Amino acid sequence: MRIKKGFLPNIKEKMISLGIESTAHTFGVGIIDSNGNILANVKDSYTTSKGGIHPTEAKEHHLRVKDKVVEDALSEAGIDMGGVDLISFSQGPGLPPCLVVGMEKAKQLARDYKKPLVGVNHCVCHLEVGRVITKAKDPVMLYVSGANTQVIAYEGGKYRIFGETLDQGVGNFLDNFARYIGMGFPGGPKIYELALKGKEFIELPYVVKGMDISVGGILTNVKQKYDSKKFELEDLAYSIQETVFAMLIEVAERAMAHCEKEELLLGGGVCCNKRLQEMAKIMCKERGAKLYVPQNNVLVDNGLMIAWQGLLEKDGVRKIDDIDIKPGWRTDQVDVDWR
Ligand code: ATP
Ligand code: FE2
Repeated sequence: MRIKKGFLPNIKEKMISLGIESTAHTFGVGIIDSNGNILANVKDSYTTSKGGIHPTEAKEHHLRVKDKVVEDALSEAGIDMGGVDLISFSQGPGLPPCLVVGMEKAKQLARDYKKPLVGVNHCVCHLEVGRVITKAKDPVMLYVSGANTQVIAYEGGKYRIFGETLDQGVGNFLDNFARYIGMGFPGGPKIYELALKGKEFIELPYVVKGMDISVGGILTNVKQKYDSKKFELEDLAYSIQETVFAMLIEVAERAMAHCEKEELLLGGGVCCNKRLQEMAKIMCKERGAKLYVPQNNVLVDNGLMIAWQGLLEKDGVRKIDDIDIKPGWRTDQVDVDWR
């Protein structure tokens, strides 16, 4: 049940929101006020030196750090729970065991301190926090993270996905290859370091289907090339970036042309990659469009974006017992009533 618009216990003129992120590897807590001032953005991420992300281990990690991350965020903001007006959390999409930890912590705080609670869509948060931080007005967002790779824009009263990966997210693809060659998680930054030393471009499959991309075949191909020992690893890493990022830029550009939008916003951990940022910059310059790139701690998963989205959706507060996780919640299923 939706509580009537305007109903908010403890409402003050300036509101302070605390948001909890726990969709995958990161347990993050952000605190922001309704003027867009960042008060805290603290996180603790699960990493491995060899294998990939394991949902149960990520959950155990979140259970271990959750209380401390909340405490650290409050102390960074210089407030206690009494100063918080609203609590929000990532309801989905994400790994169920991880999502549950964030939801339970958010519910516990909401109950203990009698605060309103809002569940928000993680993907939409990447876009909205990008808008408030960069001041982009109505951008196309290239959202490239571990699990997700989507080109999103607001049209017809909804956030619509104009293009996406047909198999896995580009971050997972990079992590998978990094794991295969014995490097740890996350793999994206490691591939980037290797790629800086690459000299020769190796032809790889280039898979764009209309507005969508696919990376599964490329993964098989680069693993085979790696096993053949005929190629330098640095050249492979360089060629992976050049090929896959060009695919991303191509679909982003097509979406911009289709929607007639002149702003591109980057979101998701893979967009920390300087080469991807450079390619986006070149494409935008050629089109006479503007590129917006939030700082790295906002590109990756973070609690801040969850806190901000909570404020945007403050009129959608529901009864705590009616709230549950939504592991498969798609961007285009979100009711956008704050724009
Ligand atoms: P989501 O829940 O939105 O799918 P996520 O859980 O995958 O997000 P993010 O923090 O947005 O989390 O992204 C993590 C991904 O970003 C990992 O796959 C990691 O390898 C990749 N990554 C981080 N830094 C870089 C970089 N410099 N270059 C390429 N990839 C990077
Ligand atoms: Fe994310």
